[in-house]
Amino acid sequence: MDIPAGLGRVLVIIPTYNERENIEAIVGRVRKAVPSVDVLVVDDNSPDGTGDLADALADADPQVRVLHRTTKDGLGGAYIAGFRWAGEQGYDVMVEMDADGSHQPEELPRLLTALQDADLVLGARYIPGGKVENWPVQRQLISRGGNLYVKLMLGMPLRDATGGYRAFRAATLEKIGLDGVDSRGYCFQIDLARRALQQGLRVVEVPITFVERVHGTSKMSRDIVAEAMVRVTRWGTADRLSRLARLRGGR
Ligand code: GDD
Ligand code: MN
Repeated sequence: MDIPAGLGRVLVIIPTYNERENIEAIVGRVRKAVPSVDVLVVDDNSPDGTGDLADALADADPQVRVLHRTTKDGLGGAYIAGFRWAGEQGYDVMVEMDADGSHQPEELPRLLTALQDADLVLGARYIPGGKVENWPVQRQLISRGGNLYVKLMLGMPLRDATGGYRAFRAATLEKIGLDGVDSRGYCFQIDLARRALQQGLRVVEVPITFVERVHGTSKMSRDIVAEAMVRVTRWGTADRLSRLARLRGGR
């Protein structure tokens, strides 16, 4: 399929850290699913040589580019670098997608179509039609528990605030203002969804099927979970205090 009318130029950003076995297949699938989108691989100097492989893919296809960063700096850092690059290049839409096949490029048309009437589209696992395939029970609990905690603390009208398959309008990222975003790990996703809602933007969830990776390993760690817990707690507390202050002020 082609890019839906009115969206303009679309860049799919794929962050990589040790994804040698996955990068070629995912780039190929994206280019096949929506041939007119461009792809940017953001590699954090992967020791397994993913960056070199990505360079070879870019040499063979002018619609594929690579951003090399010197050190592993988290998913959030990689996406911010990718978003900045995309803004400089004049892209109208920026898509987030994992390299490991968990986010299926064949579902990209669904996200892009939904973006025609939205400012931010979230691929959601926990809405009707969405699902997770092949996740161990432990990981399912972390994800479900994380979303429940986010719901309790932040009260956002979202059912999957932690997912990483998303489509942003460039204007959405401008309104969010990336300068203030310092979340490094996966809580970057919660952070951006929250900022978009705070700006009064239209955030829409569409169902996706998340398929657990076959090759390589997840970069999820105790530190990444801890960062998310601390930040969500801090944001939730700050929200409550400011609501309270407003109530007091109104009396
Ligand atoms: N450049 C860069 N730097 N890439 C990274 C880094 C980093 O520090 N950490 C992870 N990545 C890349 C991986 O190589 C992969 O392409 C993608 O980011 C997702 O990493 P995974 O390690 O596969 O994540 P996951 O499967 O555990 O988690 C997924 O689900 C979470 C929600 O449950 C991701 O989609 C998360 O974004 C999401 O929050
Ligand atoms: Mn993964």
